[in-house]
Amino acid sequence: MSATTQSSARVTTESTGPLERPASAAASRFRDTRRRTLELSAPLSPEDMMVQSCAEASPAKWHLAHTTWFVESFILREFLPGYRVFNEDFTWLFNSYYQSFSAIPEKRLRASFSRPGVDEVLRYREHVDHAIELMLERNPPPEAVQRIELGANHEEQHQELLLTDILHAFFSNPLRPAYCSDASWVYPAASAGGKKIEWLSFPGGLSEFGHTGDGFCFDNELERHRVWLEPFKLASRLTTCGEFAEFIEDGGYERSELWLSAGWDAVKANGWRAPLYWTRIDEGWSLFTLRGEYPLDAIKDSPVSQVSYFEADAYARWAGMRLPTEFEWEGAAAGYAPKTGSSVEGNLLDSGNLLPVASCEPPSLFGDCWQWTASAYLAYPGFKSLEGALGEYNGKFMSGQMVLRGGSCVTPAAHIRATYRNFFSPETRWQFSGIRLAQ
Ligand SMILES: [Fe+2]
Repeated sequence: MSATTQSSARVTTESTGPLERPASAAASRFRDTRRRTLELSAPLSPEDMMVQSCAEASPAKWHLAHTTWFVESFILREFLPGYRVFNEDFTWLFNSYYQSFSAIPEKRLRASFSRPGVDEVLRYREHVDHAIELMLERNPPPEAVQRIELGANHEEQHQELLLTDILHAFFSNPLRPAYCSDASWVYPAASAGGKKIEWLSFPGGLSEFGHTGDGFCFDNELERHRVWLEPFKLASRLTTCGEFAEFIEDGGYERSELWLSAGWDAVKANGWRAPLYWTRIDEGWSLFTLRGEYPLDAIKDSPVSQVSYFEADAYARWAGMRLPTEFEWEGAAAGYAPKTGSSVEGNLLDSGNLLPVASCEPPSLFGDCWQWTASAYLAYPGFKSLEGALGEYNGKFMSGQMVLRGGSCVTPAAHIRATYRNFFSPETRWQFSGIRLAQ
C-alpha cells in the first residue's frame, strides 16, 4: 500500500480520525511485514516458488498465499463488514492445519498447486492488503488490532520458513544455486577469529518465567510462573562448525553410547553422518548456505547449524556437557535484552548475513541459530489457547516436540524476545538450529 493511499485514508467520510496509537503501530508493522515478504521472494523465479523438496517444507508461492489466507480468514472475514472473499476455493486451498476452520489439502500436495499462478497469488495479496487499509480507515476495535498484530507475527514466522525452505530446495537441486549471490558481501569471520568459550555463571534460585508487559506475545508464552533453578553455567557462544567437525572425526555418528535411543534410531534410519547441508569432498567438508557453498575451513568458526535435537544432545554428551533447559536460557537472556520490543541484538535477519557467523563482542544469546533446549514443549501452568480456530495455532502441538530459543540468522529482529518459544520434533534438521552448551 503506497504512502499516498495511507494518507488518503485519513480524509474519507468513514474515517473517525487518525488511528489510535496501538492501531497505528500495528498497521505500520503489518505493512512493513507484508512488504518484506515480497522482498524476500524477489530473487525467486516462478519455478523456484513451486519447489517442495522435503516433507517439512512448503513452496514459496504457498507461503505468499497462506499468509494472505491467514489475514483474510482471521481478520477480514470477522472484522470488515461486507468484505468480499477473493476466491472461495482459497478458503480451504491455503489452510495449513486449522481443522475447525475448513477442509485442508494434504501438505505433500502443495508442490502440485501450479494453479493459481504467482500472478494470481500476488493479486490475492493486493486484494487483502487493500481490504486491511479499508478496515483501518474505520478505526477497528482493539480485538481487530490485536489480530493485525498476530497476522504480522504469523507472516514473520513464514518469512523464516520461506528462507529455510528455499535453502533446502536449492540444496536438493544438483546445480546448488545460491539464493543470494551478492559478491560484495564478505564473511565476517576473518576478524572475529576462533574465540574460546567462556562460561557465564548464574546463581539460580526462584524466578519468574513467561511473558510480561503489554507487548505482543504468543499464547504459549503465558502464564508467567515461578520455576526453581539450580546454579548453572551457559556457554558464551554457540558450538562452531569446527568443533562439531571434531565430534564427527572422533566417530560421533558411529558411537551409540553418545545417543539417546530414538536419536540412534534416527542416525541409522536416515544415514546421518554430518549436519544436513554438509557434503564430504575429498578429505574435507563443504557447507551449503543461502550464499552458496563454503569449504569448512572458511567458516569453521561460525556456529554449526541444521542439526537435530538428537545431534545437539549427542554432541553435548561427547563434550562432557549438556543442553540448557528453556528456563535456564530465558533466565540468562532476560539479562541481555528486554522481554519485548525490537531491541534484541544478534545476527538476525535484519543483519543481512543470511547465515550464521562467528561470534562477536559483546556476546549475545540471540541470533545465528535457534538453540535446542533440553525442555519438552509443554503448556505453562494456567495456559489458555486462543478462542475459536486460532486456538489451534500453538497448543495442539504440545506433545513430542522440544523447545528452541533465541532466533536465527533468518528470524526478523522485531519477532524475537527472551520469552519466545519455538518448537520442533527432535529429529528436525532443516531449520537454522544449533547448540549452546550448559553445565
Ligand atoms: Fe501459518
